[in-house]
Amino acid sequence: MVMQRDTGWYRSIFSPNTPEERAHNFELYWQFSQDHAGLLLEAEQDLTRKRETLRGFQADPIRSRAPLPDPEAFYRNYVQCQDAPGAIDRKTLLLTSIYKVARHEWVGITGAWNATEAFSDTQHVVTKICRYHLAEEFGHIRLFEEMFHTFHLTQVQWVPLQPFMQRVYQVFPRLPGAMMDPLAFVSELIGLMFYRAVDAVLDEVYADEPEACHRVRALLHEITVDELAHIGQRRNFLSPRGVRAARWLVRPMFSAFFKGIPEHPYLFDVQAMTRDALAFDYNTMAPALLERSWVPTYCRPLETALCATGTP
Ligand SMILES: [Fe+2]
Ligand SMILES: [Fe+2]
Repeated sequence: MVMQRDTGWYRSIFSPNTPEERAHNFELYWQFSQDHAGLLLEAEQDLTRKRETLRGFQADPIRSRAPLPDPEAFYRNYVQCQDAPGAIDRKTLLLTSIYKVARHEWVGITGAWNATEAFSDTQHVVTKICRYHLAEEFGHIRLFEEMFHTFHLTQVQWVPLQPFMQRVYQVFPRLPGAMMDPLAFVSELIGLMFYRAVDAVLDEVYADEPEACHRVRALLHEITVDELAHIGQRRNFLSPRGVRAARWLVRPMFSAFFKGIPEHPYLFDVQAMTRDALAFDYNTMAPALLERSWVPTYCRPLETALCATGTP
């Protein structure tokens, strides 16, 4: 039995829907996506409004007052930890963990970009959505670079993963939808939970760098607004069977992913992130971020969902 909540509450990301609702929500998402991101610049893997935002940050650069305590420790550990993570200062550790998560994103989106149809070759809304989604993710890589620049880290390279993982990310977008969609949805949940966890520790880790901290949060929120929309969009691909598979995958995928980020025990509570992912219903997100993002009609508070579906 479904618990009746106050109509002003968002509903679980795992809320049921119908094939008609999913088709309608793809149309709604596509409208949102164009308003939100502008026009696709396919050759540059970019979007006009995202480019403007990035240029705004670059035109008004903020740099930390002091460099990191030991910048060499960042470069020694960012691709793979050479030192014991517990021996690395937390300012550096947070940045190396951000890089490691972003590196997976970069490898994943590069594989997916090469495997999906070009925007100009398609009339299908879902394919257009996928192309926009990937271009937004490439924009996130540029925003991550801006975070590193904020701490005077200008030599960061995007390094491929080990050959086996590179292959996994190449095969992934070619899997049948029934297999790929739950995995892709949970990947988005991992990203959102990670960005929220970073947001939660920023003030403490960079307490003596308030301007840099404020800038990193602004960059992080640009990414978070997109990721919030992405989880709704990826949820929209899931049939009831896909939802059951996704729920089942949350624990093993969170566990496997964060095993590859050895910084995590010093910064984040992965068990809590996993529980939050399973319970995710938008109500814990800041209204200022939600207002700029997109939520499927079947997860919205009842009155707004009725407006969006055109039901009186
Ligand atoms: Fe992402
Ligand atoms: Fe995403």
